[in-house]
Parts: sequence; C-alpha cells; structure tokens
Amino acid sequence: MPDSPHLLAIQGDITKLKVDAIVNAANPSLLGGGGVDGAIHRAAGPGLLEECRALGGCPTGEARITGGHRLPARLVIHTVGPVWRGGARGESALLAACYRNALGLARAHGLGSVAFPCISTGVYGYPSESAARVAVASVREALKDPGPVREVVFCCFSPADLAHYERELGSGRSSSGAGP
Ligand code: APR
Repeated sequence: MPDSPHLLAIQGDITKLKVDAIVNAANPSLLGGGGVDGAIHRAAGPGLLEECRALGGCPTGEARITGGHRLPARLVIHTVGPVWRGGARGESALLAACYRNALGLARAHGLGSVAFPCISTGVYGYPSESAARVAVASVREALKDPGPVREVVFCCFSPADLAHYERELGSGRSSSGAGP
C-alpha cells in the first residue's frame, strides 16, 4: 500500500516554488488581477496572459491549466474561488470545489506536487480560518483515491494563515489516531 500523499504548510511566495504546478486564485476572466493572481502573472511573464486569453474564462469553483512560462513551476492551475457573502450562499462548497477540481486536473496530468495559495481569503474576503478548514478537508478527501499526487503544499503568505493550516494539519494526525 503506497504511503499517503504528504500535506504540508509553509509561509512564502508561491511564485518561487519549484513544484509541478502552482495554483492561482484567479477571477472568472482569467485575465489577471491583484494579489496572488498579479504576482503569478508578473513572475510568469506575458506568455501566461496570452495562453489564458485562449481559455475563455473559468466559472467559480472550476479550474483550468496552463504552462508555467517563466515560473519555476512547470504548470499553473487557475481556479476561481467564491466571493465571501456571509457564508449562506454556498461559499464553502464552491471553495471545496476549487481544491477538488484543481487536484482533479493534477491527477489527469500525472502531477506529483501541487502548491495552493489561501484561495478566496484576500480580495474575496473568505475568513481565513474557515477557509483553511475547507481547504485541508477537501484536499484530504480528494486524495483518498490513489493517484500520482505525492505532495500538496499550502503556501501561506502570512504567519496567521500558516498557523491556521498547521492547526488543521495537526488535527488530522490526532483525529486519525496516529501519533503518541
Ligand atoms: N504567494 C502566496 N500567497 C499570496 C501571494 C504570493 N505571492 N500574494 C498574495 N497571496 C495570498 C494572499 O495573502 C491571500 O492569503 O493569496 C491569498 C489569496 O488572496 P488574493 O490573491 O486576493 O485572492 P482571492 O481572495 O482569491 O481573490 C481573487 O483577487 O487578485 C484578484 O484576480 C484576482 O479577482 C481575483 C481576486
């Protein structure tokens, strides 16, 4: 039985990570923006925007894949998170779908390592702590089916986000009964 994929949280700039794919927190146009979207497009260069133009956009909760261009990551998986509207408009299900669909593309492309930013927790206003809970639960669920993904990195930009993910990832050990 192959050992299960490794999930880890780090603090850093996702555009610097040399993984098979980094995930971009995009908007439905896929034509760039601020936040991590802006950082990824700046680091990738104009070729990324050119490739994204041909995709014709992406609905919230879905994901699309492009080359990494000048990034150290080989590929970019673009996903569109929900805008937070108070929590009663299906936001958590849409956020979970972002992680599930991004990993679905990673699986389809035989990728071994994927890094996620904290999707929807910036401009889109999703509360960071509950977003981290949805992210970790959704990734764990998606990775239950064996596949090529061996490592998932939650790349946090702030220490506060890192603390949320470390707590969520730590909770998995205790809930599964593993460890002391
Ligand atoms: N590396 C990792 N994380 C980053 C980076 C970076 N270089 N830059 C920003 N972040 C973090 C933010 O601190 C936040 O925790 O990414 C998370 C997501 O925030 P946003 O980038 O604002 O994304 P989101 O909240 O999903 O809003 C998407 O913002 O940039 C626009 O075009 C984008 O319209 C879309 C909207």
